[in-house]
Amino acid sequence: MKQRFTGLIILLAGCFLWSCQPQETFSAKEIALIPQVQKMTLGASSFHFSEGTTLVVQNTEQEGIATLFANLFEKSAGWKPKIVNGGSEGSSQLIFKTDGNLNEEGYTLDIKTDKIEIKASKPAGFFYAIQTLRQLLPAEVESSQKQDKTEWLVPVISISDSPAFKWRGYMLDVSRHFFPKEDVIQMIDFLAIHKINTLHLHLLDDQGWRIEIKKYPKLTAIGGWRVDREDKPWNSRPKQEAGEKATNGGFYTQEDVKEMVAYAQKRYINIVPEIEMPAHVTAALAAYPQYSCTGGPFTVLPGGVWPVTDIYCAGNDSTFLFLQDVLSEVIDLFPSKYIHIGGDEATKTEWDKCPKCQKRIKTEGLKNSGELQSYFIKRIEKFINSKDRVLLGWDEILEGGLPPKATVMSWRGTQGGIDAAKQGHDVVMTPGQPCYFDHYQGAKEEEPLAIGGFNPLNKVYEFDPIPKELDAEAAKHILGAQANLWTEYVPTFKHAQYMTFPRIAAMAEALWSSKEVKNWDDFYRRIQTFTKRYDQMGINYAKSAFKTGGKAEEPAKK
Ligand code: ACM
Ligand code: ZN
Repeated sequence: MKQRFTGLIILLAGCFLWSCQPQETFSAKEIALIPQVQKMTLGASSFHFSEGTTLVVQNTEQEGIATLFANLFEKSAGWKPKIVNGGSEGSSQLIFKTDGNLNEEGYTLDIKTDKIEIKASKPAGFFYAIQTLRQLLPAEVESSQKQDKTEWLVPVISISDSPAFKWRGYMLDVSRHFFPKEDVIQMIDFLAIHKINTLHLHLLDDQGWRIEIKKYPKLTAIGGWRVDREDKPWNSRPKQEAGEKATNGGFYTQEDVKEMVAYAQKRYINIVPEIEMPAHVTAALAAYPQYSCTGGPFTVLPGGVWPVTDIYCAGNDSTFLFLQDVLSEVIDLFPSKYIHIGGDEATKTEWDKCPKCQKRIKTEGLKNSGELQSYFIKRIEKFINSKDRVLLGWDEILEGGLPPKATVMSWRGTQGGIDAAKQGHDVVMTPGQPCYFDHYQGAKEEEPLAIGGFNPLNKVYEFDPIPKELDAEAAKHILGAQANLWTEYVPTFKHAQYMTFPRIAAMAEALWSSKEVKNWDDFYRRIQTFTKRYDQMGINYAKSAFKTGGKAEEPAKK
């Protein structure tokens, strides 16, 4: 009798504890993690986040990550879980635990009915565990409106995860159209949930210079602005006329850059700055024509001109001093190990005519202007290396011989990357197909005007950054890949989002998830659920893929 009575008390106490706790058992189909995790075991029942939930951390870095997570609830739930640094264990807790055995970006996430444990060896791992946890919560957690009807449940589940590639990138061209700091910050938020860890900013081109350089104020005062021809097609825009005011553009102050870098760092995203040279520099030459072969004058181009023959003079030592000054300020602003120096598409007709460039070819014992480009990039590499950074450039930097320590970004297909990897250089893969997100993603007639090409969701998903031509040793040099959004045809941030989402989700999975867990049909199911999160986050994503059942083939050319 006594025993039964005790049992009844335990049962009643249990009911008291649990009856007020909503719970639910999730089915596998309700779970839509992107990128797919390496290992996952789904159990019965759930953990309930409530006002009484505490996040228990061990140090300030973890506290930063926990704070971002707690902030998610502020608007949508109307309360925030408490954060305790170094508190003792109890119930309804999310506990951060360091585990030195896990690899750099890896983590485990163990959700039970009364507590959640996340383990990682480094802060980035904790951040990714939190992104996974965030994706297990109802999509409404992303809302900026209070959600009174939502129960904040996550399934009982055990996950262990780590990325396949360490470079999971996205490039935004802020020259062809300028996207202010606030847009970049929002993009960082949108990328972070996908576990993208690299944001490459294409900071200058013929159509605009976008970063304040204190020693050369005209770079932004003049180079940051062009005449407004936005009403005309990109490739039919007349150049600036004498007396015409340049009103279209903008730039980041150094304070803006510091803010963007710090914001990205808190989300474990490295911002890689790209300072183009020796070509794609009309905006710079409009400000400082003395660094060209002819001396100018030049105006910032309001649209597309091809080819642009005015590039930096490689025979003039003052060009290199100018570039070193610019790079010094850039290096002071960006902690990135990699400094991108462009290097692509240099038309060398001016070098062929310029006495200074020709003299340089002679004195350096070079064969031609092709080797002069290699001389140019190698000289810049020495400077970048002297600052303990690594030079990164488009695959043209292979021509005439790679600088000894350079990393290559392969964009003209994969051949440049294959050659560089075979020579023992690190490589980031970004072949036009399927990595150029300025290309169409659906039937042309139904899409906004784009530059051309065709990179639908399924092609992005199928992308394997490691070319078949590489053996295991050379394949180790493939750091990963990235999606590139060039913005000639992308005038607004809403449009930039349209070109980026949901394709970046496919790219994220191609880079994070191993081949063993990748599965197109399953991804196509998950991405449709995931877009509910996009809706709550206010992301303007393309629905093109969903009109064709995800798969789309390029229409036959007539
Ligand atoms: C490039 O698309 N010119 C790198
Ligand atoms: Zn010259």
